[in-house]
Amino acid sequence: MVGIDKINFYTPNTYIKLEELANYRGVDPDKFTIGIGQSKMSVPPISQDTVSMAANAAYPLLTKNDLNNIDLIVVGTETGVDESKSVASFIHQLLDIHPFAKSVDLKQACYGATAGLMMAVDFVRLHPDKKALVIGSDISRYGLNSSGEVTQGAGAIAMIISSSPSILEIEEVSVSMTKSIFDFWRPNYSKTAIVDGKFSNEAYISFFSELWHEYKNRTARSFEDFSAFCFHLPYTKMGKKALMPLLDAEAPNNKDLLLEHYQLSTTYSRDIGNIYTGSLYLSLMSLLESTLSSLKENQRIGFFSYGSGAVAEIFSGKLVPGFKDALLTKQHDTLLNDRISLSIDSYTDMFNDELAIDSEGNHLFKQDKTDNGVFFFKGVENHQRLYGKNKE
Ligand code: HMG
Repeated sequence: MVGIDKINFYTPNTYIKLEELANYRGVDPDKFTIGIGQSKMSVPPISQDTVSMAANAAYPLLTKNDLNNIDLIVVGTETGVDESKSVASFIHQLLDIHPFAKSVDLKQACYGATAGLMMAVDFVRLHPDKKALVIGSDISRYGLNSSGEVTQGAGAIAMIISSSPSILEIEEVSVSMTKSIFDFWRPNYSKTAIVDGKFSNEAYISFFSELWHEYKNRTARSFEDFSAFCFHLPYTKMGKKALMPLLDAEAPNNKDLLLEHYQLSTTYSRDIGNIYTGSLYLSLMSLLESTLSSLKENQRIGFFSYGSGAVAEIFSGKLVPGFKDALLTKQHDTLLNDRISLSIDSYTDMFNDELAIDSEGNHLFKQDKTDNGVFFFKGVENHQRLYGKNKE
């Protein structure tokens, strides 16, 4: 049995209330809070980037045993910090993982962390005495006053994969699908994503429908075999739009259960926003950590991973006895409740704050006062990114 032994997320300490943003933009707040289904959006200070967020997500999970037995570090990201050097290689050093591990990034929009999870699970199946660290870390940026602005966010998830998982066994059956499309993309020369919003929604919905039918054919499973379904959530209404049409033929009991669990899986994303690669796993934590969840050991959860461009996968996992004891519910509660609400001006300043590297390749700055990350980005010296670590 191989699967998720530990799981955590990190999001920066600052956010903007979407009701305030709607008022400022002259939009009916209901459009953002009901139409899109988002309440708050994490906004990262310059001192939190893809690397520092990844380190902050993984750090609380790691024991000495993990540090000595993680032989694979894989980071899914579409907002890496270097065209050549992997985020995983920074993480390897920041977290002090033993020298004989391999470290690599995987990219395919929001699908990257799922590719990493599948790679890690296969790796541990082959080497059951070893562990793997899987991370999804991203900053989602569409631009101020753009149509995608309300679906931005920032954060990272981290999971330890082992052959004695405490939370979820990942089952062997899964079905993937690829179609090269331009629904959402970010050319190398652009700091913000380009998106065909309506087409991206349609692509997401049709990928789920086509994949589900293929999955059903190949596995002979139906929705009745699942107690819950977790989705990649660019905004919290998206998964429901894809799921609802396929539930029409379901018995009312089963439909209600899946929709109830869907709702519980959206709580964290509603208050954080789109964290791209980590989003699906944030849904899983939101579902499992909800006090309203009635999920029990051995029940099956389905997963829909979608990355624009586009690649998707449906896979499943079974809850392990005692899984609730392995969750970091309290820590996540504190992380989300202790955040600072930004004014529109501070949000705009933070959004526009960027590296201004001089001709020698230097720009160092102090950790933002609002930033409470254990790991933080210190800036660039001689073209090399530097990171700091606070005492806890
Ligand atoms: P938009 O044009 O601002 O919004 O774009 P809209 O006019 O489509 O309205 C959105 C919803 O609000 C609609 O509901 C309206 O009816 C409703 P729906 O028809 O969808 O059920 N609405 C209201 N509701 C209550 N009160 C009101 C009101 N007014 C309107 N007063 C869009 C929205 C999401 C397209 C835009 O924000 C966008 O382009 N976002 C980025 C793209 C995106 O998130 N796409 C999702 C699928 S692609 C994906 O998931 C991959 C991704 O994560 C990237 C990756 O893989 O790396 C994005």
